[in-house]
Amino acid sequence: MRERSTVELYDHLVVRNPVLRPRRLGHVNLFVSSLAKAREFYSETCGFVEIFEEPLITAAFMSNGNTHHDLGLIEASTTDRVDKDGKVLISAAQRGSKASLNHLGFEMDNEKQLVEAYENLKKLGVKAMRTIDHGLAHSVYMPDPDGNMLEFYADVIDDWRSFWKDSVGKTVTGGWQPALEGADGKPHYPDSFEPDIHPSSPIKSRRVTCATIATSNFKAMLDFYLNVVGLELLPGSDARHAILAGTTGEATLRLQKVEDPKNAAFSNMGIELGQADTLVAAKAYLRSKGYPIQKEENGDGQASFLTMDPDGFGVWFYAPTTNSH
Ligand SMILES: [Fe+2]
Repeated sequence: MRERSTVELYDHLVVRNPVLRPRRLGHVNLFVSSLAKAREFYSETCGFVEIFEEPLITAAFMSNGNTHHDLGLIEASTTDRVDKDGKVLISAAQRGSKASLNHLGFEMDNEKQLVEAYENLKKLGVKAMRTIDHGLAHSVYMPDPDGNMLEFYADVIDDWRSFWKDSVGKTVTGGWQPALEGADGKPHYPDSFEPDIHPSSPIKSRRVTCATIATSNFKAMLDFYLNVVGLELLPGSDARHAILAGTTGEATLRLQKVEDPKNAAFSNMGIELGQADTLVAAKAYLRSKGYPIQKEENGDGQASFLTMDPDGFGVWFYAPTTNSH
């Protein structure tokens, strides 16, 4: 459910020199109806390692080394979540009262680039922005024209594993005032990684790479993601389905046209597995556990299938197909 359409926020913008230009999708942050069930699915079943939890907001963060978290999972609640000083962290009246997208997190190259983008958005008249210091990253939040919340963040430290370890039991989030003077122009995102997969998990997930948003407002949404965010259209896109990439060139966001605005929402995420044989094993395991396999696709050097998490969010697992010569 959306409080109101935010399309008017961007109606006045004519931007043909995209301001944000993120590298890629870094994480998907979801409100889930049961954190226990989401943990069981994403960690014990899918193999993501839980690296941090915030009991105050009933939240878990998961990563296999791709970035500081690929998944943020927060239990939905119909009451406000408050911190130890009584300050409202998540107001149930506004959002998070049922399973839904909290936000999509897009990784920027560096803090200086993020601050420059923030300043340019302000000059263009974009007012609906919030800025947060997460300790390991600085973030700018703003909604897309449909009201899906987006986070654009730049990592500000290299060693996020130590940061999580040192932050147990502490409040790590605070306000951030973006300033060009002193902004760090050095990238801190991980260059590469060896996946550190939950050892007993039957599914060997490497990372979350892509999110799909269903929209009845396809043209305005595509315009926003191309010309304000600065993603690039990839081959295979058509008038009902856009495949978009950040500066790494990898598919990072899909827009899917739907007719009924009631069906406009975050739809699914893409999870990369290492090898085609792990895909076969993952499919068999999910079937044996009663998870539906809704679609299967093969082609363009990869095989994939779609299943549903406990809240009905779609999960596409995919893996490269190997040529057997
Ligand atoms: Fe986030």
